[in-house]
Amino acid sequence: LHTLPPLQLAHKYFQLFPEQRNPLWQNPCDDKRHKDIWSKEKTCDRLPKFMVIGPQKTGTTALYLFLLMHPSISSNFPSPKTYEEVQFFNTNNYHKGIDWYMEFFPVPSNVSTDFLFEKSANYFPSEETPRRAAALLPKAKIITLLINPSDRAYSWYQVHGHQLRTDPAAVMDEVQKFLGVTPHFNYSQALTFDPQKGFWCQLLEGGKTKCLGKSKGRKYPPMEPEARAYLSRYYREHNVELSKLLHRLGQPLPSWLREELQKVS
Ligand code: A3P
Repeated sequence: LHTLPPLQLAHKYFQLFPEQRNPLWQNPCDDKRHKDIWSKEKTCDRLPKFMVIGPQKTGTTALYLFLLMHPSISSNFPSPKTYEEVQFFNTNNYHKGIDWYMEFFPVPSNVSTDFLFEKSANYFPSEETPRRAAALLPKAKIITLLINPSDRAYSWYQVHGHQLRTDPAAVMDEVQKFLGVTPHFNYSQALTFDPQKGFWCQLLEGGKTKCLGKSKGRKYPPMEPEARAYLSRYYREHNVELSKLLHRLGQPLPSWLREELQKVS
């Protein structure tokens, strides 16, 4: 049996297993051997039960704030650097380790009924996120908002989820069912349409409303038909792929996607 001093041994090890240079964090509590060497002071309860992964411009901020209105749901503490989002799995923050990530979450008062979550809209397009998130949070449920990519592109251009935007209470009922969260929170009483903002907002006591900030739900002219036709063609193949994925997952196709697929190019 040969061995080397620690530093040389480490070099040798990574020469033999170069793929292990990048860590892949797992939940220490999922493996007894790991749990046994994990500090007694630490807990594995400060991890999200579900994640809103984006993509951007689909209404993730509205969904995030509506979720926070639910008495059993809490999110991460805001990160001052990344628009309040933790952005752990998609950035170099990942290399800061799981203690860094867990510090963002409150210690739940009741692990079975409290739902911790985080919303990082940039997880959706990130290549690294699925592998990393699956390793650390294999049981977490995933919520993604799908809107027509042409509308999303136009919203980006205006430097914009359709059903969430027009009927948030129905969407929030579906989300609660999907998560299995209790008690059932009645969003049709807690939200109200604000005609001035043109969007659904939180209804406060005394009848006032609390809407999202100016940068969310902006007013701009409708997309020109030529631009819509161009974008519709541009996204056609991607939409076909998305419909195949949803089919494989046994998920219904959103109405905008059915309409896009019916268009003849
Ligand atoms: P626009 O400002 O282009 O209309 P995200 O938070 O994921 O970046 O998404 C922003 C989009 O959320 C807004 O894009 C708006 O269309 C949409 N949205 C959905 N429900 C909303 C609400 N109740 N208030 C404000 N914006 C909402």
